[in-house]
Amino acid sequence: MNKHSGAGELAGRRVVITAGPTREPIDPVRYITNHSSGKMGYALAVAARDAGASVVLVSGPVNLPVPVGIEVRPVVTAEDMLKASMDAVDEGCDLFIATAAVADYRPENRADDKIKKSSESMALPLVRNPDTLATIAGRPDAPFTVGFAAETTDVASYAKDKMQRKKLHMIVANDVSVPGLGFNSDNNAVTVFWPDGQEAIGPDTKKAIASRLVALIGEHLKQE
Ligand code: CTP
Ligand code: CA
Repeated sequence: MNKHSGAGELAGRRVVITAGPTREPIDPVRYITNHSSGKMGYALAVAARDAGASVVLVSGPVNLPVPVGIEVRPVVTAEDMLKASMDAVDEGCDLFIATAAVADYRPENRADDKIKKSSESMALPLVRNPDTLATIAGRPDAPFTVGFAAETTDVASYAKDKMQRKKLHMIVANDVSVPGLGFNSDNNAVTVFWPDGQEAIGPDTKKAIASRLVALIGEHLKQE
């Protein structure tokens, strides 16, 4: 293992990774979020570090230790995640990997005080959040971009559609309907798609999947 030696497949590369969920506040005590432990993103950050990259990890709220040698920039909301990611890419970035489970919508208004219950039903107006991955992939100076797609049906076709729509170099598709894999688990199984190929990885530990993903991304990055 070439730990921090800079001799691996991402030697000298600057990598920015998003990980974890975002939290969108409703009032001071409540928020909207997604299932996400952050484990896949943190495992990828460690694998990229071990492959010689310098890594910035833009992380939503997770219960994971800060990995040695990785700069973690904590964020809460999707808007924070976009800003922190754009700033990190501005500082120099060869490879951007989005593993975060971003809330697609946020409450239109955040109440300053706790909302008290009153009627038998209530409606909460939501507005669309910015898409960090699509925004970075759409920059004129876009780095090599890799997205993740967590799907429950038609995994391959939804994932390939996202890759095209967001103008990504690669997408990692995750079937989150399989019990015991994905979300909170230490294990996962994914299929990686690029415009003219694909590769299935796992089921395996997130650590093993991360190191194969980094090797695969490294091969494609070299061809750019
Ligand atoms: N993503 C992002 N910012 C968002 C939404 C998604 O950066 N506001 C990124 C995710 O980190 C992931 C990829 O886009 O790498 C795909 O996320 P996903 O939720 O699967 O796709 P969406 O485009 O949001 O489509 P939908 O949820 O409707 O399937
Ligand atoms: Ca989404």
